[in-house]
Amino acid sequence: MKHLIIFGPPGAGKGTQAEKLSQSLNLIHLSTGQQLRELVINQGISQSEINNIMTAGGLVSDEMVNQMVAQFIVDHPKQIFLLDGYPRNLIQANFLDNLLGAENIMVLNLVVSEKETVNRLASRGRLDDQADNVKRRWLTYCKNTQPLITYYEKNKRLINVDGEGSIEEVFKRLEIDAKQLTDNS
Ligand code: AP5
Repeated sequence: MKHLIIFGPPGAGKGTQAEKLSQSLNLIHLSTGQQLRELVINQGISQSEINNIMTAGGLVSDEMVNQMVAQFIVDHPKQIFLLDGYPRNLIQANFLDNLLGAENIMVLNLVVSEKETVNRLASRGRLDDQADNVKRRWLTYCKNTQPLITYYEKNKRLINVDGEGSIEEVFKRLEIDAKQLTDNS
């Protein structure tokens, strides 16, 4: 039984697929992006620095995000987690390995072209989905997050999944691997 990370660039479909997989396989879905957006809404102006970072397509501090994830895991004992949007750099990946045990974590990497993700985000309209912001989110992904692919591949902890096609088609591909990896029997 493994905990899963759903990985990929902005607009790859991580959130969409994580919702579906968590329902179908009874996993606990944690989206750090969603948690941060809720924090900004709930705490208003005092969290505006976070909002600025997110809108600009940068990364919120590792300390804050790591603490948020650690607390979430403590609050949900004996569960199988599906992490979406975390980890996003080596510091976070090491932190998570220590938290859950490296041997208990597998990554499903959604492979989607930049062109396709730009098209998808152009029609969504979230605050950080304007063309310039999407470009910056992609740059942040390439610089900080994409190198994790090598990190996880080194220990054979990463499976590439074709993330193009309809939401249902991608889900069917992901579900096969996710089912095997999270099987308790
Ligand atoms: P986050 O919310 O994680 O944003 P992201 O990684 O840029 O990802 P998105 O939510 O845009 O895309 P997604 O891959 O989830 O795709 P989705 O399913 O939504 O993070 C936001 C910000 O928070 C970050 O920029 C950062 O500032 C901060 N943050 C978050 N985590 C952090 C961390 N760990 N450390 C530091 N900072 C952190 O789909 C996108 C669109 O495409 C949707 O409209 C969807 O309907 C559509 N779609 C999905 N699949 C398909 C398909 N197969 N065909 C057609 N359309 C599709």
